[in-house]
Amino acid sequence: STIMVLNGPNLNLLGTREPATYGYETLADVEVMCREAALSFGHEVECHQSNHEGVLIDLIHEAGRRIKEGEVLGVVFNPGAYTHTSVALHDAIKGADVPVIEVHISNVHAREAFRHHSYISPAAAGIVVGMGVQGYVLGIQGLVHKLKA
Ligand code: DQA
Repeated sequence: STIMVLNGPNLNLLGTREPATYGYETLADVEVMCREAALSFGHEVECHQSNHEGVLIDLIHEAGRRIKEGEVLGVVFNPGAYTHTSVALHDAIKGADVPVIEVHISNVHAREAFRHHSYISPAAAGIVVGMGVQGYVLGIQGLVHKLKA
């Protein structure tokens, strides 16, 4: 089945955006890594990036519908800065009953205080933080293992 990989605001700038914090891999590079990781478990990925909160909410709802149809397994989600602001994304994950692995490239806990709180974490099935872009691969592995258990 399909694993949805969702990226939130500013992650389209990966590779050129604050490379000391986020590295030099582009979003396209990350999507290739995700595709290979999913394939090693016999799954496919579908990658989406949006700078718009409502679009991300719609994608979570879509994931919920497609999970019920047995077509989608779950979601690996880097919500970007919406992590720290979005009650609406928290509610979407809960409301659509979607297994979400929350991924942050950087170690948000070692950064500014405003990045220490996540509205997403209490609704997430698991969290990967501070492992660089490899975190997406770890997120896919974690999602597959969790859903097998
Ligand atoms: C991020 C961390 C967030 O605080 C930040 O707003 C991002 C990226 C990360 O992947 O480390 O956009 O989610």
